[in-house]
Amino acid sequence: MNMKQIQKAAELQAAVKEAKGKGLEIGLVPTMGALHEGHLSLIERAVKENDFVVVSLFVNPIQFNNKEDLEKYPRTIDNDLRLIADLLAKGGFRASELLAFTPTVDEMYPDGEPKEVYHFGSVEEVMEGPRRPGHFSGVAVVVRRLFDLAQPTRAYFGEKDYQQIAVIRSLLEQIKYPIELVPCPIVRADDGLALSSRNMRLSPEARSIAPIINSTLEQAAEMAEFEEVDDVKEWVLDTLASFHEVNPQPNGLRFEPEYFEIVDALTLQPIADWEEAGELGAVGCIAVWLDGVRLIDIVKF
Ligand code: PAF
Repeated sequence: MNMKQIQKAAELQAAVKEAKGKGLEIGLVPTMGALHEGHLSLIERAVKENDFVVVSLFVNPIQFNNKEDLEKYPRTIDNDLRLIADLLAKGGFRASELLAFTPTVDEMYPDGEPKEVYHFGSVEEVMEGPRRPGHFSGVAVVVRRLFDLAQPTRAYFGEKDYQQIAVIRSLLEQIKYPIELVPCPIVRADDGLALSSRNMRLSPEARSIAPIINSTLEQAAEMAEFEEVDDVKEWVLDTLASFHEVNPQPNGLRFEPEYFEIVDALTLQPIADWEEAGELGAVGCIAVWLDGVRLIDIVKF
């Protein structure tokens, strides 16, 4: 399969126009680079399900409400391109071409910081929304720009950023683009930690205890069989917050949960009773600080 890196929006538009002219189906995988197996699973699915694939690698400054997080966000473009090439070398995919779109900030936002603001109502009033003001609007601005440039048939997003998927679903309803949103399951390390580009910022000691987040959520899923929603919530928060008391850690390492919410899997509204969840069931979403790194994860009930 042919793989090409391009940095210019005009070049992407020209390639997309040609692909559309041939009636090809286009898959889009938006990323911020620092690729890991989770991203590669999205790319693999996209090259299996489409004729032509665009992978964007762009650290989008306007979705960071924390300057330090933006500065510290890993940028590993050469390695990213190598990982994609290695994946494609396996061969046997439907797609015949993959474009790795790696624009600069000026290329993405030629008129300076975009003024447009998106609102998502109740979907953004919970969990990440109030804690990261402007984040989802910043995500929507860049994703819409990528939709406009790549004109995908399908767009692939990982379920680790569970609320982001609900936001993109709402964005698609607002802008009425006929794009199929494809949510993809979390990929985990062997010890259960959800893969994230932020994991590489964990010290070895922090990395060794980070899987406790997932194992606590897995236990919560078992508890859900016989415990009330509020009791499960409280147990998860207490278990993580008191972990260092039960298991003393070097360097004062501790889990500091920011939130754990149990919500309807589609509307993302908190539920008080398991029966309140709609046809997709309930999902638990957590954000936890560990070693100065904010980790998020989910569990399906
Ligand atoms: O999930 C991400 O990595 C980003 O939020 C996205 C969708 C690439 C937009 O910058």
